[in-house]
Amino acid sequence: MSDNKVLEGMKIPEHVAIIMDGNGRWAKKRMLPRNMGHVQGAKTVEQICEDADSVGIKYLTVYAFSTENWSRPEKEVNAIMKLLRNYLKDCIKRANSNNMKVRVIGERSRLSEDIREKIEELEEASKNNTGLNFTIALNYGSKDEITRAVKRLAKDCVDGTADVDKIDEAMISGYLDTAGIPDPDLLIRTSGEERLSNYLLWQLAYAEFYFTDVLWPDFNKDELIKAIEKYNGRDRRYGGVNEE
Ligand code: FPP
Repeated sequence: MSDNKVLEGMKIPEHVAIIMDGNGRWAKKRMLPRNMGHVQGAKTVEQICEDADSVGIKYLTVYAFSTENWSRPEKEVNAIMKLLRNYLKDCIKRANSNNMKVRVIGERSRLSEDIREKIEELEEASKNNTGLNFTIALNYGSKDEITRAVKRLAKDCVDGTADVDKIDEAMISGYLDTAGIPDPDLLIRTSGEERLSNYLLWQLAYAEFYFTDVLWPDFNKDELIKAIEKYNGRDRRYGGVNEE
């Protein structure tokens, strides 16, 4: 707990979203196969959930697999799916021991049936937990999410369960996979890349961005604290002005 002292008096972002990048480069630097980078990256995910909770972050959302990641070599896609399969299985135990509520966002039909079942089991088993709200973006792409939301909303308008004239920002948010989750306050992307890569485009409208050269497998609590310190130095105006 003592390393949390540096955060005393600081504003803790309620929701942190992360683009976990650099697993491949981490492995390459060590002459290891790329998959070892993902294995280490998954360990970092476990640790950072604990760290986020311990500093008072309420929502953490990570980009585990994008709609574009299917274009990677089949061997790598299979290795990531295997890793996710094992992670989801272990996560049921872990979520209950650390009171974490887990949700998965993204398009599920392309995932294998056993992964879909594990996701449902995990969400069901952890739904009443009151600690960290952990969201995993899996086969997720923001444009895909918005397209699916628009289709559902259009159908509801045709069926008469929604009214075109009543559509507002809150209603659209409610049709997204992230319905009920507050928008992120802080986005972290590791490995020196500075782009959004189709991640939470609607939800990140007013988030602060923090980019670091640290590769995801090396990301740790100290790095998380640095991101929060930087966030505290920012002046969030939401399009308005702050009077001097
Ligand atoms: C980006 O690194 C990482 C991914 C596309 C996969 C992320 C997956 C994990 C961290 C492991 C599983 C996730 C969970 C939730 C357990 P990259 O391969 O693009 O790295 P590079 O840019 O250095 O090649």
